[in-house]
Amino acid sequence: MRVLLTGGAGYIGAHVAVALLARGHDVVILDNFSNSKRAVLERIERIAGRAMPSYAVDLVDLSATADVFEREAIDGVVHLAGLKAVGESVEQPFRYYRNNLIGTLHLLEAMQRFGVSVLVFSSSATVYGDVSAPPFTETMPTAPTNPYGRTKRMIEQMLEDIAESRADVSFIALRYFNPVGAHESGLIGEDPAGAPNNLMPYVAQVAVGRRERLYIFGDDYPTPDGTGVRDYIHVMDLAEGHVRALEFAAERRGYDVFNLGTGRGASVLEVVRTFEAVSGREIPYVFAPRRPGDVAVSYADPSKAERLLGWRATRDLAAMCRDAWRFQVRHPYGIDVGTAAKGERS
Ligand code: WQD
Repeated sequence: MRVLLTGGAGYIGAHVAVALLARGHDVVILDNFSNSKRAVLERIERIAGRAMPSYAVDLVDLSATADVFEREAIDGVVHLAGLKAVGESVEQPFRYYRNNLIGTLHLLEAMQRFGVSVLVFSSSATVYGDVSAPPFTETMPTAPTNPYGRTKRMIEQMLEDIAESRADVSFIALRYFNPVGAHESGLIGEDPAGAPNNLMPYVAQVAVGRRERLYIFGDDYPTPDGTGVRDYIHVMDLAEGHVRALEFAAERRGYDVFNLGTGRGASVLEVVRTFEAVSGREIPYVFAPRRPGDVAVSYADPSKAERLLGWRATRDLAAMCRDAWRFQVRHPYGIDVGTAAKGERS
């Protein structure tokens, strides 16, 4: 298939591009580069050993989006472009609703105009909120607790309603748990701008000496060691799940939703210990107050994806830490930065 990958230069996007190309699909990348770097594109091509077209386009610009469909014979879309920082979405809800909802509606309009009927959408486990006890299944109620999570749930509902009204479309939503790690080449990986919000890139930056210490948000949760438990999934397992979902979507019609997780939870301290073991570096940490909005425990029941997509995560936490560490060692201050950033330390 010739696949349009929105947000394809981002952390998840680059890994999905590598997985699609490895499977023999063609990839066209659309990205506004608001939270990604152009340097990633040639690294994807280096890993894949083949070229791919890319377009610097913002989905909020409908005519520019339609132009890409005009120029490229697209068979299906993997839609990853979107703002995704929970805390930021609380401070800037209008920006999140405008970017995520209008961007998706414009993408859907361009797809309809050019007869493209297959879509895989990047959703998030954050839609479950804290009203149900894990392991989360796709039939459990959703209760997102922040604007970011609400945009994900609203888009899922838009896709479900459109699929109800049109017999010719096939839409799949994938609810990610906690993607971490990097491609084994060490050429692409998680490279956030500024101080990482997420645990794994922060731990990696402490290990490489870019940050003094890790702050562990809460040691009094009702968990075995008191720290938060999450379902960490290797980003290449996640990427391969997208390839399976796309091929599944191309063979059927209607809307469906799948959890992409390992089904296993790991605590913050377990991640720290594992990272120390694979990197040989000490990770100094201090306990800090709980972070507002955090739940104690979140992990998936991934059996529906196993059953219907024939997919399951295969890489363990040690592999996730080993691959994250390899990328961090090769890019202590991120991809494609000058020496100016080298002085950054907190
Ligand atoms: C994991 C655990 C923290 C940082 C978020 C979004 C979710 C998805 C993935 C977009 C928690 C603890 C973290 C730190 C810490 N994003 N932690 N110190 O919050 O589970 O999920 O990212 O789709 O939508 O909600 O991931 O990595 O931020 O936190 O102690 O410096 O690590 O309290 O227990 P989270 P996370």
